[in-house]
Amino acid sequence: MGASHCSQGSTSGIRRPERNTAAGLRLPPVSCLLPPVSFLVLCLFAAVALAQDKPYPIFTQDHLDATMKTLGPNVAGIRASLADGDFTTAKERTIRSREQLAISVTFWRDKERDDAVTLLRTALDRMDALDAALSIETVDPGAVETLATEVDAACTACHVVYREQDPVTREYRLRQSALQ
Ligand code: HEC
Repeated sequence: MGASHCSQGSTSGIRRPERNTAAGLRLPPVSCLLPPVSFLVLCLFAAVALAQDKPYPIFTQDHLDATMKTLGPNVAGIRASLADGDFTTAKERTIRSREQLAISVTFWRDKERDDAVTLLRTALDRMDALDAALSIETVDPGAVETLATEVDAACTACHVVYREQDPVTREYRLRQSALQ
């Protein structure tokens, strides 16, 4: 659009007054500069919109596997600390495990598995409850034991749906069929 009056030495016959600068340079009319400028602005908006579309880093299946592999020993560690009566370490391990599990929400969001997000939130809520029970001055060993069992149950609730075990290698993996 507007190409004819923008090209230098136009043969279109429509003569427009052209201003000459002191240096004798011909400047194109402002209307010729606007399209490229607005195009650049559009590109910028598009880039920003795209960037906002994915506010979270990509969390792959390998990330999920790695997260779960570290989570296992950490959560087992909570139990070990509780058995030792070491509530400070149990609390630290609970907080660390909660952080690890929390970031995996991105995986389920990307796959649009609302049910898995709910299962995950239940596990996180129970870890918060355990953290709270370990944060009071006189920790009730029976209460924290029960809460730790509830955390385990929340892990299992997701595993029965989304995890499967290779019959030969005994390795755990994502149950792909559950994602469909
Ligand atoms: C929302 C679903 C979900 C929740 C909640 C969840 N997991 Fe997992 N977990 C999985 C899936 C899927 C796998 C299989 C992925 C893989 O290992 O590649 C898995 C695998 C595992 C594995 C096996 C890792 C391996 O490959 O050897 C362990 C251990 C584990 N999870 C521990 C936990 C613990 C502990 C919790 C609770 C604090 C928990 N998970 C909560 C989905 C979940």
